[in-house]
Amino acid sequence: MDQRFAQAKKYLVGGVNSPVRAFGAVGGEPIFIKRGQGAEIRDQNNRKFIDYVMSWGALILGHAHPKVVAAVTAAVKNGSSFGAPTEKETELAKMICGAFPSIEKVRFVSSGTEAVMGALKLAFALTGRKKVIKFRQCYHGWSEQDYLEAEYNNLGSVKNLVSDKVAAIIVEPVAGNSGVIAPKSGFLEGLRKICDKNKIILIFDEVITGFRVAYGGAQELYKVKADLTCLGKIIGGGFPLAAFGGRKGLMDQVAPLGLVYQAGTLSGNPVAVAAGIEVLKTLKDKKIYKDLEEKTRYLCEGMKMEYSRVGSMFSFKFNDRKEYAGFFWRMIEKGFYFAPSKDEANFISTAHARRKI
Ligand SMILES: Cc1ncc(COP(=O)(O)O)c(C=O)c1O
Repeated sequence: MDQRFAQAKKYLVGGVNSPVRAFGAVGGEPIFIKRGQGAEIRDQNNRKFIDYVMSWGALILGHAHPKVVAAVTAAVKNGSSFGAPTEKETELAKMICGAFPSIEKVRFVSSGTEAVMGALKLAFALTGRKKVIKFRQCYHGWSEQDYLEAEYNNLGSVKNLVSDKVAAIIVEPVAGNSGVIAPKSGFLEGLRKICDKNKIILIFDEVITGFRVAYGGAQELYKVKADLTCLGKIIGGGFPLAAFGGRKGLMDQVAPLGLVYQAGTLSGNPVAVAAGIEVLKTLKDKKIYKDLEEKTRYLCEGMKMEYSRVGSMFSFKFNDRKEYAGFFWRMIEKGFYFAPSKDEANFISTAHARRKI
């Protein structure tokens, strides 16, 4: 066993700080990363890989983007955390509200899991109910909730679970945690209708899709508005930042205006906010999304395998874990780092030059 992993296992649970990093789904030992630049990462043995994980979708501009590095460096020189308001938080919140017509106010938190917990806690308070319909194919972080499980793209399975106990339906508007699954035509609209009819809060978990599939996320792409939206990954530019947001009337139930208590020592951290602002500013150029999409299509078609893709998120179809593990390690040999699990999505960034794909 590699010494680094042996040491890590001694002091960290399973040698990692998030289970999928342990490579359990592909076998073998995890690759320890030394540095990243643009589309490339280097491991501790100085092997170079084109990275298609991109911090699980967070790094839409690639590793160590010069503008992000400059913004973060400038921010940290002024102090890394105050636990008090800073003007830049308003700037980032305003950018998010501008991108998502369904969001009038946001609350910043530090992880996607927290964003989901905040949105659900608010939904429970708004409805006085406790159950949540989610989809088997979707992931919303590691918090435990009173979940009822429906099947993605199957409205009938949702209708079977609807009752006056259900506070919210939460969905990834493009599923990115069972490979990539695009919503079938009418699916998101159908969820909207079910929620309106039964006074259920519709939560779009856009932790992956927000600013990824379009500047205004899946809501821009599919033209369906959620009541509450969860964001993460891209809005923090590779730093711990996430958010939940929605209409004023709903969000104003959160403390300090309302009774739904939610708080965080590092929420709206100035360094993470500086990174987020720089990323969103760069993404404002709509050409970027067209270019990302073209590059991703080029890669997917070039692989000559069955694939699924929405914008710059993609996955390939495999029959089982063993088959995927074979693919994963063959790609590693060739210098390409894909997600170390067949259930995870892969991502292209603006830094992936076509000639290197
Ligand atoms: C759709 C979705 N929601 C929530 C989360 C949880 O986010 P975090 O890992 O930042 O807690 C993830 C993580 O990958 C995710 O993909």
